[in-house]
Amino acid sequence: MSLQVCVLGGTGFIGQEIVARLGAAGHDVKVLTRNPAQHRDLQVLPSVRLVRADVHDEQRLDDEFQGCDAVINLVGILNETGLGRGNGAQFRRVHTELPQKCVRACRAAGVRRYLHMSGLKADSQRGPSHYLTSKGLAEDYIREHCAAGSPEFVIFQPSVVFGPGDAFINNFASILKITPGLLPLACADAKFAPVYVGDVAAAFVTCLERKDAAGRTFQLCGPDVMTLGDIVRLTAHYLGLKRRVIPLPRTVSRVQAAVMDFVPGKPFSTDNFLSATLDSTCDRDGLAELGLERTAMRSVLPRYLQPR
Ligand SMILES: NC(=O)c1ccc[n+]([C@@H]2O[C@H](COP(=O)([O-])OP(=O)(O)OC[C@H]3O[C@@H](n4cnc5c(N)ncnc54)[C@H](OP(=O)(O)O)[C@@H]3O)[C@@H](O)[C@H]2O)c1
Repeated sequence: MSLQVCVLGGTGFIGQEIVARLGAAGHDVKVLTRNPAQHRDLQVLPSVRLVRADVHDEQRLDDEFQGCDAVINLVGILNETGLGRGNGAQFRRVHTELPQKCVRACRAAGVRRYLHMSGLKADSQRGPSHYLTSKGLAEDYIREHCAAGSPEFVIFQPSVVFGPGDAFINNFASILKITPGLLPLACADAKFAPVYVGDVAAAFVTCLERKDAAGRTFQLCGPDVMTLGDIVRLTAHYLGLKRRVIPLPRTVSRVQAAVMDFVPGKPFSTDNFLSATLDSTCDRDGLAELGLERTAMRSVLPRYLQPR
């Protein structure tokens, strides 16, 4: 059945994959974005429309959600920028207040299902970083306010996501290419279970309609648990580069993060460091719970990392 789906954050790395699959599946997709001109390539799909909107304007959400069967919220930030950065206010605005507005607007417009992107280890009480506590606060709100099924909710908690166009692997690839010989690496022992963007998108598309997904939270991990050091070594391998990764001690990693807080574009931050103090690994296999396969990094990295 063709559904009317409104997507927030649909122009991002994960969003583009989800939107393409929704379009291909015959759904009618409206993507709310701050800048449609920047993302014209998404518009080539006949059933996808880009609409300029300030997603933080609740009245606007009320209007845009009218007539929609489902809303998908993927809006997220990795770091705070500009004035006031570091106090968590930007994380709370984007990760906590926006989902609250989405839930209220879904209810007002009679939207049946709300699909919410969170993150692995999100926790309102024990999250070590603003990123994880702000995501956890949203989860608490959604579970409490959607308990009666108006709207039905589904929450997704992925580990780090990889695939063509990702920031994670591609940033390390850029650094490796300009690093001669040795690469000192912060948080090298942090554990991840990188999950393929196509698998994450498949989980979202599947959960649009599955009755048994309503009210559930799905942890999304790939098949391999790897340290950050291992991931960077694997990246170097597929780039055909000989590089030695030197793990930085925890205290030095923390100092490096504090320095990076002031670097434009923030490739790393204190908040990222604090998130990495927890293993980003799954207790449950959400993809298997949905009957989906997990794709290994080794089968995808060669598709977008070319040897020099
Ligand atoms: N990538 C990962 O490894 C990973 C892992 C776990 C969880 N997640 C979560 O998955 C979601 C999507 O991640 P992604 O990697 O696809 O992110 P992304 O590429 O940075 O895209 C984020 C999207 O959010 C919108 N956005 C960003 N800041 C905004 C703001 N201040 N106000 C309104 N809209 C804003 C942008 O839309 P416009 O610019 O078009 O308005 C953009 O399309 C996020 O919630 C993230 O926390 C990602």
